Parts: sequence; C-alpha cells; structure tokens
Amino acid sequence: MKTAIYPGSFDPVTYGHLDIIKRAAEIFDELTVSVLNNKQKTPLFSVEERVNILKEATKDIPNIKVESFSGLLVDYAKSRNVHVVIRGLRAITDFEYELQNAQTNALLSKGALDTVFLTTKLEYAYLSSSSVKEIASFKGDISMCVPEFVAKMVYDKYGYNK
Ligand code: PNS
Repeated sequence: MKTAIYPGSFDPVTYGHLDIIKRAAEIFDELTVSVLNNKQKTPLFSVEERVNILKEATKDIPNIKVESFSGLLVDYAKSRNVHVVIRGLRAITDFEYELQNAQTNALLSKGALDTVFLTTKLEYAYLSSSSVKEIASFKGDISMCVPEFVAKMVYDKYGYNK
C-alpha cells in the first residue's frame, strides 16, 4: 500500500491546501494530513481545532486520515512507517525553504524519507494562511480562500460575525 503524509501548520486550511490534499489522495492509497503542534508558535486555532477543521473539510475523501504530531517530522514519519512526505509548491519563493527542508529530512532519516512536491494550481498560487488571517483581521473578504465554515470560524476568532 502506498502511503504518504502531508504535514503543515494549516492555520487555517485554505483551498490551496485542500487542492493538494485531493490530488495527493488520488496518487496514494492512504494520505495522512498531519497538523504540527508547534509549542513555539501562537496559532490562531488550537491543534485540536485545526484537526477538526481538516476532518470536516476532507470528510468526503475516503482515504484521508487527519492527526497531529509534535517534534521532528522524520521521527513522526518513522513511527507511522511512512516514507513519503507531500508538500505543495506555489512559486519560486517556496522552493528554497522547501528544498532545504526536504534535504534535511532526507539526511536526518538517512534516506528513508522522501519529499514529493505537487505544484499548486495557478488559481491558488497567491493563497497563504497568513494572508487569510491578515485579510480577516481587517474584516476583508476571505470567501475565495477558505470553505465557508472555515471563514466563519476565522471571523469568529477576530470577533466578527459575517
Ligand atoms: O505549513 P508549514 O508551516 O509550512 O509546515 C511546515 C512543517 C510543519 C512541514 C515543518 O515546519 C516541519 O516539518 N516541522 C516539524 C519539525 C521538523 O521536523 N523540522 C525539521 C525540518 S527541516
């Protein structure tokens, strides 16, 4: 069985992430979307909230699991016996950071962990969780960035009821 993990912060998940998830789930038999529980960052959504949002947003895709992880990605992947990491590439600006991470993970895992890049659809190339939060914090329209129920949750966090 071909399995992969798609790790990320997903704070919050965007249509760009969801497009990568759908396409990766078609390539692999099982895809685990893995939410990083990063104690050094202060996310808008707790890790439990992010896991629940992702479960709801991917409920129609049968071969998807959603869970959280902390610590090194290589250790988490080893504990799940998974050898492929999925990452999305939006533009050349992502490339340097992603290449560095992929090579570090290959080194740390002694070659056991490979990274497969999927290029983001052009229509989502501009999207990022950070810009979604910034736009929402000024009460701007994020309906083209995230599913409706996610937009509502984001606005709630900023005290708006749109
Ligand atoms: O959505 P993001 O914030 O771009 O995801 C980054 C993520 C979670 C993939 C990356 O920060 C990560 O793997 N963190 C776990 C810690 C780790 O293994 N770091 C070494 C990778 S070089």
